[in-house]
Amino acid sequence: MTRHIVIDCDPGTDDAVALWLALASPELAVEAITVAGGNVGLERTLTNARAIASLAGGAVPVHAGAGRPLLGRFTSAETVHGPDGLNGVKLPPGRPPAPGLAADAIRARLRTSTDPLTLVGIGPATNLALALATEPALAARIAEIVLMTGAWGEGNVTPAAEFNAWSDPEALAMVLACGRPITLVTLELTAQALVTPSRIAALRGRSDSACLHAACDILAAAPPPARLPGLPLHDPCAIAWLLRPDLFSGRDCAVRVEAGDGEGRGRTHIDRWQLSGRPANAHILERLDADGFFDLLGQRLAALP
Ligand code: RIB
Ligand code: CA
Repeated sequence: MTRHIVIDCDPGTDDAVALWLALASPELAVEAITVAGGNVGLERTLTNARAIASLAGGAVPVHAGAGRPLLGRFTSAETVHGPDGLNGVKLPPGRPPAPGLAADAIRARLRTSTDPLTLVGIGPATNLALALATEPALAARIAEIVLMTGAWGEGNVTPAAEFNAWSDPEALAMVLACGRPITLVTLELTAQALVTPSRIAALRGRSDSACLHAACDILAAAPPPARLPGLPLHDPCAIAWLLRPDLFSGRDCAVRVEAGDGEGRGRTHIDRWQLSGRPANAHILERLDADGFFDLLGQRLAALP
């Protein structure tokens, strides 16, 4: 059965691979792509999302959204993704953006879709929070929310926090409180999806797809992180969950996020051992079949234009 989804993103090198994975998968009907500032500023993330979607063909509308968090100032992750957000890899210019802002587009899709929508958040959660806050009744039309965000252990942007959660913790708190099924892809999960030179070479050999080779070029240009023996492929894990849940295992947990601008900003308190007494409000993915994930990724991206 086709799953109708909206992807909210901040491309972003791993966002690019996630978007191509989703656009390559017939099980998913990508109704819209909405964009926030995150890895780089909104002007660049919007340009990148348009180019990524256009290279895959099709005509998925791409909507501009929030350029900064609900509270606090915007901070990019250019050191990881480069000033252009794609590690210097040039893509042909994409189609113009669709009219309408991200939060309004998400609400319009929820209001008019004949099928419940799955919202996939792979950037700061600002657009999702704005959509939910403006018309809370529309939450009933959400089948599931999948977020690449958070960590039960150390962060990647501060010792306490993962980048998306840290970028807009107030927005994440609003989404976590919406009452709909939420699945979290945390840093501990994505640390199992490590891109290595041999995995890039295996991907590249799958076909002569322009999207596949652009993805390989983007990944090959990424600086290796200090904290892992390879590049964690964060955002595509959120898409892979929708395609092949059998590649994952996890558990339901109570999750809350620290807001404000102190040392703990964006820390996600993930209660894996039911110590808090709080009811579970999210399904946390803990284990990944990494070989199965990379095989899925190669098989799907190879079929793109
Ligand atoms: O911390 C990793 C997450 O932050 C990924 O979604 C990456 O693209 C950035 O948005
Ligand atoms: Ca992202």
